[in-house]
Amino acid sequence: MSLDNVRILEFPKICDPRGNLSFIEGGCHVPFAIKRVFYIYDVPGGACRGAHAHKQNSTVLIALSGSFDLHLSDGEREIIIPMNRSTKGVLIPPGVWDSMHNFTTGTVLLALCSHYYEEEDYIRDYDAYLEYIKTRKT
Ligand code: TYD
Repeated sequence: MSLDNVRILEFPKICDPRGNLSFIEGGCHVPFAIKRVFYIYDVPGGACRGAHAHKQNSTVLIALSGSFDLHLSDGEREIIIPMNRSTKGVLIPPGVWDSMHNFTTGTVLLALCSHYYEEEDYIRDYDAYLEYIKTRKT
């Protein structure tokens, strides 16, 4: 529920004159079995993505190329994490509100998820989110 549970992850990088290689194994480099992968690309200038929290799902976000700013909030605090390296991941646990801003042209955002897609797992309204975390605290 809290930003204290957000983690910055660093993925292996095999440097090679033919080009670098990184890899991610579920349950090893990310702390869950990966059930779903999605990616966001061709983001027009000024567009924002995300703006939701999950009840159960954990997500790891990676800027595979390009960059964006990841805004995370737990309703009390907000942090902004610059995402600009393909070996850096951010673990977003359930109950944390995320949104992504300032995409540079050509950015590809990769998301690794602990759960299959289920719309009922999303909280997409910020006021509803604040209510949700309030009830979880009491
Ligand atoms: P949305 O959650 O708004 O994208 P983001 O928050 O990452 O910016 O998803 C956009 C649409 O895509 C929405 O109609 C739901 C659908 N969708 C799926 O069908 N499966 C998925 O795994 C995801 C992430 C989204």
